[in-house]
Amino acid sequence: MVKLEIEKLRNYINGEWKEVARTTAVVNPATGEELVQVPLSSKEHVEEAVSAAKKAQKEWALVPAPMRAEFLYRVGYLMKEKKEYLAQLLTSENGKVIEEARGEVQEGIDMAYYMAGEGRRLFGQTTPAELKDKFAMSQRVPVGVVGIITPWNFPIAIATWKSFPAIIAGNAVVWKPATETPIMAFELAKILEEAGLPKGVVNVVFGSGNEVGNALVHDENVQVISFTGSNDTGRGIAAACGRQLKKVSLEMGGKNAVIVMDDADIDLAVEGILWSAFGTSGQRCTACSRVIVHEAVKSTLEAHLLARMEQLTIGNGLDESIKVGPIINKEGLQKIKEYVSIGKEEGARLLAGGMVLTEGDQRSGNYFAPTLFTDVSSTMRIAQEEIFGPVVSLIPVKSFEEAIEVNNSVSFGLSSSIFTNDVNQVFRAQRDLDTGIVYVNAGTTGAEIHLPFGGTKGTGNGHRDSGIQALDVFTEWKAIYVDYSGKLQRAQIDVE
Ligand code: UN1
Repeated sequence: MVKLEIEKLRNYINGEWKEVARTTAVVNPATGEELVQVPLSSKEHVEEAVSAAKKAQKEWALVPAPMRAEFLYRVGYLMKEKKEYLAQLLTSENGKVIEEARGEVQEGIDMAYYMAGEGRRLFGQTTPAELKDKFAMSQRVPVGVVGIITPWNFPIAIATWKSFPAIIAGNAVVWKPATETPIMAFELAKILEEAGLPKGVVNVVFGSGNEVGNALVHDENVQVISFTGSNDTGRGIAAACGRQLKKVSLEMGGKNAVIVMDDADIDLAVEGILWSAFGTSGQRCTACSRVIVHEAVKSTLEAHLLARMEQLTIGNGLDESIKVGPIINKEGLQKIKEYVSIGKEEGARLLAGGMVLTEGDQRSGNYFAPTLFTDVSSTMRIAQEEIFGPVVSLIPVKSFEEAIEVNNSVSFGLSSSIFTNDVNQVFRAQRDLDTGIVYVNAGTTGAEIHLPFGGTKGTGNGHRDSGIQALDVFTEWKAIYVDYSGKLQRAQIDVE
């Protein structure tokens, strides 16, 4: 174990570390112990950060993109050097098991290198003009000051998905991290400083959504908001941004399903379900919370799944032998408990779990037993609403067509998966599943950073994090015409 040193958390504004008087506790969800205090900033702190960002952005936009990239390469390198340290801090504040925390830090490193590479691309188009002696092209240009609001479930990866494309494109950032997981934000800000990023290009303001988030959303000097979090909050942000004609990119979760067909490799399907349902204790936007199973293999799948669930070890994720960590906080725990009661009332059959764990070491943390319901119908609330915990519902179906229909019957559209060995079914499924991400013979999690991440329907508003598509959120298009004929040539009119 690396020795963890948690410094006093301060805002990072205009390259300076600034203390805030009002604070609240950050609690390790595995132990219930206080780790540190997080600042609760106010509107004035946001205004200070936005004005620093606005000033810094003007100069940053003039730095050639390949030179902007040099900073990101250094950031990637520093993250790599500190990977184990960051992973242990991440597990301490978020609870996810150490192996997953390392994976998450790696996701951030990948994003740093990927977006640094973009510094030498940022492709626009050159295209023929319709008139002689005239040149036409389009170019990406930065939007200005970007406000990013990030969740606690992927405190470093999602921050990099949003801030790295924003800065490579020449924007400046004001970032509000989740108050549950501020240590990762503080550490990332320290890395940005160490990498020599000019002051003001990235600013971190800690605090609540009500104060800091709201101030960012309503600040007239912020041109874009990129948000990942709950559906209600996202809809509120979209409405506020709509009124201001402010660009907004939203990612708001899912109700993701794994489909298991009658010809599937059942053991492989079980591994895929376990990983995507109980990884991060089910607290992923991409978590599998429904298993749509062909009735011919339902009982086999139930038996194999139950046997493997019994082997899951639950506890403090810093212990390498633990497979399932805690739930982020007491409210999360309570919400999961309520959904289990709802499921029972709706007539779903509880096969495993369903309770808060309070024995021994688990007493002081927030632990919920991996839970399996069966004989769930697709209209039940537990099959429709996002639970954000280790709860899976098995929904039996009679055919491939019914499986697709059930998958598509929810108001979210983030991720889906099918286990089958029938090549025709594979191609039909990838066409007909109405989610932004589709997996074949793998669970619903495991997105790679160079592909677009996001979804349809209630999951978002048409934008994507990650991949080249993330640049669309953080850039405007400029069309440029250069007429070198020496005379006035009128488009659409002076054509022969
Ligand atoms: C999220 O749950 O919000 O594909 C992000 C995955 C991870 C990212 C999840 N790479 O599950």
